Amino acid sequence: MADITYDTSSRCWILQMEASSYCFGLSEDASSLKHIYWGPYIASAVAVEMARTQVPLKRPFASSEGAIREEYAPWGRMRFSEPSLKVEYADGTRVIEWVFEEHGVEQSKESQTLWLRFRDRAYPLIVTLYYRIYDGHDVIERWGQLENTGGSGPVTIRQALSADWQLPVRKRYRLTYLHGRWGKETQVAETLLGPGKIVLESRQGMTSHQFNPWVALDPDACATDESGEVWSAALAWSGTWKIVIETTSYGEVHFVGGVNDFDFRYWLGEGTRLVLPAFVGLYSKEGFGGVSRRWHAYELEHVFPEPPEAVRPVLYNSWEATAFSVNERNQMELAEKAAGLGVEVFVVDDGWFGARDNDYTGLGDWTVNPEKFPRGLNPLIARVNALGMRFGLWIEPEMVNPDSDLYRAHPDWVYHFHQRSRTQERNQLVLNLAREDVQAWVFATLDGLLSEHNIEFIKWDMNRYFSEPGWPDEAGRNPERVWLDHVRNLYRIIDELRCRHPHVAFESCAGGGGRVDLGILSRVEQVWPSDNTDALDRLRIQEGFSYAYAPRVMMCWVTDCPNFVTKRTVPLRYRFHVAMAGALGIGGDLSRWTQQEMEEARGFIAIYKRTRSVIQNGLLYRLRSPRAGSVAATQYVARDGSEIVLFVWGHSQQFGETQVTLSLLGLEEEARYTDAVSGTTYSDVFLAHHGLPVSLVGDFDSHMIHLVRAAPSR
Ligand code: GLA
Repeated sequence: MADITYDTSSRCWILQMEASSYCFGLSEDASSLKHIYWGPYIASAVAVEMARTQVPLKRPFASSEGAIREEYAPWGRMRFSEPSLKVEYADGTRVIEWVFEEHGVEQSKESQTLWLRFRDRAYPLIVTLYYRIYDGHDVIERWGQLENTGGSGPVTIRQALSADWQLPVRKRYRLTYLHGRWGKETQVAETLLGPGKIVLESRQGMTSHQFNPWVALDPDACATDESGEVWSAALAWSGTWKIVIETTSYGEVHFVGGVNDFDFRYWLGEGTRLVLPAFVGLYSKEGFGGVSRRWHAYELEHVFPEPPEAVRPVLYNSWEATAFSVNERNQMELAEKAAGLGVEVFVVDDGWFGARDNDYTGLGDWTVNPEKFPRGLNPLIARVNALGMRFGLWIEPEMVNPDSDLYRAHPDWVYHFHQRSRTQERNQLVLNLAREDVQAWVFATLDGLLSEHNIEFIKWDMNRYFSEPGWPDEAGRNPERVWLDHVRNLYRIIDELRCRHPHVAFESCAGGGGRVDLGILSRVEQVWPSDNTDALDRLRIQEGFSYAYAPRVMMCWVTDCPNFVTKRTVPLRYRFHVAMAGALGIGGDLSRWTQQEMEEARGFIAIYKRTRSVIQNGLLYRLRSPRAGSVAATQYVARDGSEIVLFVWGHSQQFGETQVTLSLLGLEEEARYTDAVSGTTYSDVFLAHHGLPVSLVGDFDSHMIHLVRAAPSR
């Protein structure tokens, strides 16, 4: 049971979670919060003892606030490490001096939320810090709220991060993070920390392909996938963000994160509040695998909009088959074929609207193209439904092509500066979603589209980063708030659409995996991790993805060969086995698939449907990393232990090594497992300690093994 207590004698708060504890206390003069403990579970009495025995640090060239390890540091006094909060008051005062006022704990059925309120001694700024923990989990959600109670004009916020995480002092930490670019998202990178700062950030207006807002730190680089202490954190924010990991000159490591302060300025008007996004942290002593499983469990239970046991349907998307040349006839043909395979959602991608014959025109004109669909979309939707599938549609609502009716009518609706060019990327510009009129128009357009058609799935795309983030009409009135307001209004639109159309599922796509984070994942059913569907490349993209996010939300398509990104050709079976490791989709041109390929595909989809609840919602073990050699393997265990799915992929055969033996993890003691295909039965000891031999012959061979737990052996 999650539990939060306050010890009055030592003035410390203790957060007790499933297998970890967290503790911090109030300084003598109530002007700062000092971090005390974050790690494996300890009794509360031990935490109190730690709080009592902490000696106040005194350091030359620093004030007392600058010397202690603060939970949240408002810039001021002699604090020189990365602060959490920096504001400017209307009279020009630029530092904060706050005092603690009050705290409380709010209980809900499965969580506890601690809040602590601070007030500036002289100005009308109230800062409330929040810590939320959940029964059965080791995550702590941290965020803050800033409030201008009025009387002294607006408060200008220059930097407002969500939390400062302090790590225990160890010799040296290793940082593991996810980096990439278009077509190469969520690549696992690591570096040993030395004195100074590492900044991971997005200045792109969205989460970005370059870095994903997720980090993991382990002391002395000794954690493996299944052992060792790891601290991890992730931001629930889909706009510009930053995480700064800093090693002080005393060797202490802390990291702060939240909305990026680059080019940032937010006027907090009198009587208004600003709620900051959550920066969520967790601790595990079971290595990176333990960290991932904890993230997945938390996401399934408390982040994703669907219940933990829900499964994502098998999807077909026509983008790689028909690109912009969609029409009623070719989509109906593809739909027939897709239905024959067992597909459950049929998605028409780009090209169905306006004058959208290529990527130069039409974005913004969300009316059905009369040449491609003379009868509108409804006859196609009716056919798709009659075939037993749901209908899905691609949109990119935050964007406009200059060659569109929308832009011709509203050239001011895009971000721009006076006297500056409007940089185009993919021939498009970004709509200023911070504007109320644009927000209202986007909502009304999509609401209309969903009301007039039986659409049950939306792929929400965003195919460029921000540039010239100006809003000339707002000059002198805080145009820089677009960084925040774009995302808040995007969230608002999706939330409202979900409310009005509860049967519609959403996918977040941004030229592939440019918008994958806990913020968007709390309001979409799935995400598109990358436009790169090459099965070999995907193994690495999917591996990095799995560090932070559960397989259920990871949409993976089987597409045609040679692959359009890599020109590589690999067997259909290998492509299926890679795509079945997440939420399965088909993206190939089914009109060109042979009878034999269709047969094979039907078989894979049927097996996938039988096993997908284990894959999408089970416990994930990365047995072999695709970064480590020519064989990769991932194992999934059903949460009730009753089934196991194992994927093994051999990418390049060398030295005649045609067999790999894999020790399985997460097995139940004294259980026996039966191979669902061959009927062979194995003991847990055999599978765990001897290992399961798997033969891999030639290049791009792969296997899926499905084991079902039998009665316990004696
Ligand atoms: C982006 C997406 C693709 C596809 C195209 C359509 O690149 O990532 O999947 O939807 O847009 O233009």
